Amino acid sequence: MGENYLVTGGAGFIGSHIVDALIKDGKIPIVIDNLSSGKIENLDPRALFYQQDITDREMMEKIFMLHKPKAVFHLAAQISVSRSVKEPEEDAKVNIIGTIGLLQMAIKYGVEKIIFSSTGGAIYGDDVKKIPTDENEFPKPLSPYGIAKFSTENYLRFFACEYGLKYATLRYANVYGPRQDPHGEAGVVAIFSRRMLKSDDVVIFGDGECVRDYVYVEDVARANLLAMDRLENDTVNIGTAIGTSVNELFEKMKAISGYSGKAIHEAPRPGDLKKSILNYSKASTLLDWEPTVTLEKGLEKTIEYFRNELETLK
Ligand SMILES: NC(=O)c1ccc[n+]([C@@H]2O[C@H](COP(=O)([O-])OP(=O)(O)OC[C@H]3O[C@@H](n4cnc5c(N)ncnc54)[C@H](O)[C@@H]3O)[C@@H](O)[C@H]2O)c1
Repeated sequence: MGENYLVTGGAGFIGSHIVDALIKDGKIPIVIDNLSSGKIENLDPRALFYQQDITDREMMEKIFMLHKPKAVFHLAAQISVSRSVKEPEEDAKVNIIGTIGLLQMAIKYGVEKIIFSSTGGAIYGDDVKKIPTDENEFPKPLSPYGIAKFSTENYLRFFACEYGLKYATLRYANVYGPRQDPHGEAGVVAIFSRRMLKSDDVVIFGDGECVRDYVYVEDVARANLLAMDRLENDTVNIGTAIGTSVNELFEKMKAISGYSGKAIHEAPRPGDLKKSILNYSKASTLLDWEPTVTLEKGLEKTIEYFRNELETLK
């Protein structure tokens, strides 16, 4: 006991890569996931799995009491920005209330650290002083999803001051890679991959000049493990400081996948940020972390993954 590592949302895209990294490190992760967007196939069978909703306090308490985790990687969340706009209460129920319950459990059962998956893409807003944006920028989120992430960051600070809970907050850029669900905050690579490989039409909303910072999922998982050991009561961006427009992404993916179609442009989606690029110098100094997978290499690996997925479905 005492050496257990809990991953909420561990059957999801990023969470399952953290599970893989923990197993590679010789640890046995415990996963809580309600499988609302996660999949059991994502999960290494060596992980201990509870199909469980984080908002169910009674069951959560049982799991904490039984395993007394040393650290908690908190990824379980309502991850759709557009759903958060349509149903802000539902978003808050999981992303704020569910998270507060988890933090209270962590305090009660002596968790040494919470590693929280926040967002750099949705927290800073459009009106930023610097691009690439660093952590000194005051968050001005434009969606209930971003507001909930910023609220959680503040609750973490409060619980740290009041009860001595230790935390590490990671604000991710647009994470992409194998196992990504196309419906999330940054599903564009997963959507384009699937459509290109099936030779379906690919839709770009607006003029395609929206710029994003794409960071590969294994780099993000590594940042989580480093944060567990090296970051205390602090917040860092996890990105690449490189911006890529949707049109550029389309061309790169087209070349890798062998897609021969053209992009179809539709009306821009309301609320889409024009430009989001993160400065990761703080993570580099405090975690000794930097991205190691280039966008080209990461896209190759991702398209390869979706190609295999498509083959097995045939
Ligand atoms: N993908 C990105 O680019 C990105 C960027 C910034 C932040 N994040 C954050 O990273 C985390 C993981 O995101 P992801 O992209 O891997 O998405 P994901 O949907 O693959 O992962 C979320 C997981 O949480 C589970 N879940 C959802 N609600 C739950 C609940 N009430 N109880 C238990 N489990 C629940 C889902 O089944 C899923 O497995 C999220 O907190 C998300 O907000 C992601």
